[in-house]
Amino acid sequence: MDTISQVLEVFLNNPNESISGQYISEKLSISRNAVWKAIEQLRKNDYIFESQTNKGYQLVKIPNKIDRYYLSIKLQNLCTEIIVQEKIESTNKLLKELADNGQADKTIIIAKEQSSGRGRLGRAWDSQEGGLWFSLLLRPDLPMEDLSLITLTMAAAVREGISSYTDLDVKIKWPNDILFNGKKLVGILTEVKGDMDRVEYIVVGIGVNVLNAIKDDLAVKATSLKDVAKSDILINDLLVFIVTSINHYYNEFVLGKTSEILTLNKIHSAIIGKEVEVSGIKGTEKGIAQDILQDGSLSIKVGSTTKKMVSGDVSLSSWY
Ligand code: BTN
Repeated sequence: MDTISQVLEVFLNNPNESISGQYISEKLSISRNAVWKAIEQLRKNDYIFESQTNKGYQLVKIPNKIDRYYLSIKLQNLCTEIIVQEKIESTNKLLKELADNGQADKTIIIAKEQSSGRGRLGRAWDSQEGGLWFSLLLRPDLPMEDLSLITLTMAAAVREGISSYTDLDVKIKWPNDILFNGKKLVGILTEVKGDMDRVEYIVVGIGVNVLNAIKDDLAVKATSLKDVAKSDILINDLLVFIVTSINHYYNEFVLGKTSEILTLNKIHSAIIGKEVEVSGIKGTEKGIAQDILQDGSLSIKVGSTTKKMVSGDVSLSSWY
């Protein structure tokens, strides 16, 4: 962790207290000048400190925007490298390039803005400032055939992270969108590289509408947490909740413990029992979503027959 994050950590560990420069300098074995410089840098990043003569500094406000220093502290036990970018094309694109060059397992890239955010099925993903746009690199020691439940694992994990942070009853639209009141809050784009015997890497890209506005043409189908949450959302803390939850369920997934993941996908499903239209590679089916099967596929009742969809894009009847 860099010096600025270390200084910030001292303040976070002593909330609502005035801390002297001398104390921080001794604790971290750095000069008083280095402490002062770190505080100035944090101020430039919109942290607010009050300084009182003879007492020291008190941290009174943490900025509510993606912050590299805060995240370096809070994600240090969950991620191997934490890369925060201002504006890039796409966190998935950059992370795949780094992964091709040996980037470590459990690296995270977070961008404040994406100029070419990517969605599923080649779509664009609107990624203005205020949203949570990030990608995680995973290198499980598994054959490709064991990956069928990775998208449902991520869906269950992200749903739980958001729900435990916001207390909202958010739901999963198979295979991996998260909705609130039928409108999309989160999209997940999972990209895999490898051969049949061995997965080389997985890049999981997650986009959460948090403080960003939703464009008018998307407002029928999408919503932002700021518009539906009961209290203020602190974007860095929300990310920490989501990554903590991903870490938990990903560990279960790697161990082959997938029954809870399947159960969570069923009990929090936004579509089971509802009329849906599913566009898969073999065409489009309209029917009632029935169940999520052991292999992660969706069964839907079309007239008197039951069809199994292995992958696809689901539209709710309220959307068409
Ligand atoms: C979808 O629902 O179509 C998936 C959207 C995934 C968007 C996220 S934002 C962070 C990451 N980087 C990208 O370019 N896409 C994913």
